[in-house]
Amino acid sequence: MKQIALQLTAGNNKGTRRKLDFYPTPPECTVALMEFLKLPEDLIIWEPACGNNAMVDVLRDYRHEVIATDINTGHDYLETKMDCDVIITNPHFNISADFIKKAVNEAGIVAMLLKSQYWHAKKRYDLFKKFPPAYVLPLTWRPDFLYQEREKGKKGAPTMEVAWSVWIDGNETTKYLPLNKPKL
Ligand SMILES: C[S@@+](CC[C@H](N)C(=O)[O-])C[C@H]1O[C@@H](n2cnc3c(N)ncnc32)[C@H](O)[C@@H]1O
Repeated sequence: MKQIALQLTAGNNKGTRRKLDFYPTPPECTVALMEFLKLPEDLIIWEPACGNNAMVDVLRDYRHEVIATDINTGHDYLETKMDCDVIITNPHFNISADFIKKAVNEAGIVAMLLKSQYWHAKKRYDLFKKFPPAYVLPLTWRPDFLYQEREKGKKGAPTMEVAWSVWIDGNETTKYLPLNKPKL
């Protein structure tokens, strides 16, 4: 049902998709994070801006219970509460700061995929000081966020560089560690 709703509201209308910042995350980005975090299987993960489940599918492959919600299916993250241990997402860029502030207050581990230069901004200085990530993990490749739209076998020339920011309760000294692209 969720899948069908997304096809109607997101998949068939590029204008709406772009307005909601609908860019599915290529699986290798989530695999790189999961190989780094090595989370115990019994933790419950919430993906609160799940789009068409590009991240969720990988998280479930790691045998986690995953709660998948999105504004497209009636759950505005900023207005929604869930019981979970971990929050992992690639948030809508324009409201990413609100996502971060809420997430770090409701889960012990939070990971957000953000543009690499995300913290290079005066307006985010206070956010970083108040909620310092335990890790900033730049990806050493440029993910192709249009991969689902390309004809099979065709490669794009992606330009955006991204990094995971990870918050771990009680761990406030930021470490910077590049992640290599995993082979899938
Ligand atoms: C960049 S896409 C990422 C989708 C998915 N997380 C992934 O990585 O493939 C951002 C998603 O945020 C959703 N979104 C935008 N505003 C939201 C909100 N306030 N609450 C929940 N989801 C939201 C959009 O519908 C879109 O699916």
